[in-house]
Amino acid sequence: MTGSTAEGSLLAELDADPYPVYARLRAEQPVSLLPEADQWLVARWDDVQRVLTDSGTFTTDIPAAPVVRLCGGPPLMNRNGAAHQDLREAIEPDYAPHRVNDHVDAIVRPWAEKVIAGLAPAGRAELVSAYFEPVATLSHAELSGVDIADAGRLRWWGIALIDALTDFSRDPAKETAVADAMADMDDVLRRALARVRATPDRSVLSHAVHAHRPTGEPRSDADVLPVIKQLAQAQLQAGWVGAWTLSALLADRDVLAEVADQRWLVGAAVNEALRWTPPLGNVTRRTTRAVTLGGADVPAGAMLSVSVASANRDERVFDDPDRFDVHRDVRTNLGFGAGPHGCPAFAFVMAIARTSVDVLLDRLPDVRSAPDWRSAPHGWKLRLPGPLNVVW
Ligand code: HEM
Repeated sequence: MTGSTAEGSLLAELDADPYPVYARLRAEQPVSLLPEADQWLVARWDDVQRVLTDSGTFTTDIPAAPVVRLCGGPPLMNRNGAAHQDLREAIEPDYAPHRVNDHVDAIVRPWAEKVIAGLAPAGRAELVSAYFEPVATLSHAELSGVDIADAGRLRWWGIALIDALTDFSRDPAKETAVADAMADMDDVLRRALARVRATPDRSVLSHAVHAHRPTGEPRSDADVLPVIKQLAQAQLQAGWVGAWTLSALLADRDVLAEVADQRWLVGAAVNEALRWTPPLGNVTRRTTRAVTLGGADVPAGAMLSVSVASANRDERVFDDPDRFDVHRDVRTNLGFGAGPHGCPAFAFVMAIARTSVDVLLDRLPDVRSAPDWRSAPHGWKLRLPGPLNVVW
C-alpha cells in the first residue's frame, strides 16, 4: 500500500488507532493490499456494501480461517448455502426484535441491577470487566442455556478466543491459552447439549439442536458446537457496545448530563457508538474470482479485510464522521454487517448496551472518570475500549 507508514509498522499503527489510516486509505487507495496481514483492506462504504451483499464473488467459505480451526469446524459466518440457512433459521428467532422487550425485562435488566448492586458500595470500579462484560455474558448465557454459575469462566473463554484471533504473530503462549480455554468450553457445552438433547427447552442451545428437525433426528454436536463456540467472543463484544457508549459520554460532561436527563437519548447514543466505533471493525471474505474493486485488481482467492469501521466513518455518507454526535440524523450503519451474514443478534445486542447504560445512570448518577484514568482503546479487527476506570 502507499502512504507515509513505514513497511512493518502498519499493523501496529492500525492496532493503536486505525481511524487515521482508514481516512488515508478512503482518500487515496480505498482497496489496498496490507502485506503484513496478506489481506486487501476495503475502506469505503460503497465497496464494503458491495462485498457484504455479493456473496457469489466474496465468500465466507474459508476453511483455513483460524476461527474454523479454533471452534473445531465452521461457525455460522463461515457456512454458506443450506448448511448456513438451516442453523441460522434455527437460532435467529431467539434474537428477533419482537422478543427483545421480554428479554430486557426478564433477563438483561435483572442482571444489570444485580451486578451494579455488587459494585455500588466500592465507589470506584473498572467498568468494562466488572460491569459491561458480565452483564452481556450473563444475559447471553441465560438466553443460550449455558451454565451461568461462573461469569469469569465465560469471560475467560471469550478473551482467549479474541486474543488468538487477533494475534498476527501466532504467539505460542496465546495458542496454548486458547487451547486450554476451548477445551474447557467444549466440556461445558457438550454437557449442556446433552441436557437439552434429553430435555428440550426454550434456550438457543436447544433450538440449535432441535428446531425444524423431525422428532428423533436432532442436529449433531459436531454441527452445532462450532456455531455456539464462536458466540463466546460475540457476547463479550455486546458488552463493549455499552462500554464504548459510556466512554464517549464520559468524554463530554454536557452530553452525559443531557443523556442522563433525557433517557430516550440513550438509544441514540448506543446507535452512534456502534457507528463511531463498532467492536467488530473488520470482517473477512475470500474472492471466488478475479474482480476489480475500488479501482484495484484483486485476484481470485485473495483474502479481504472488509472494514465496516472505516465505512462507518466514510465522509461520503456521514458529515463530520469522526465526531460522536447523539443528535446525528438516525440512519443505518454497518456495525452489524449487511447481507446474508449480517448479525442476527443485533436487536438483542443493542438492548443489552442500552439497558446497561440506563441502569448505570439510574444507580450511579454521579459516575465520572477516575482522576488518573486515561483512555486506552486498542485493536482494529476487534476494537476494545480498554479499561474504563470510574468513580462515583
Ligand atoms: C450476543 C451477542 C452476539 C451474538 C449472539 C451474535 C451472533 C452472530 C452470528 C451467529 C453471526 C453470523 C451470522 C451468519 O453468518 O448468518 C454474526 C455476524 C455478525 N455479527 Fe454478531 N453477534 C453478537 C454480537 C455482535 C456484536 C456486539 C457485534 C458488533 C457490534 C456483532 C457484529 C456482527 C457482524 C458485523 C457480523 C457479520 C459477520 C460477517 O459478515 O462476516 N455481533 N453475529
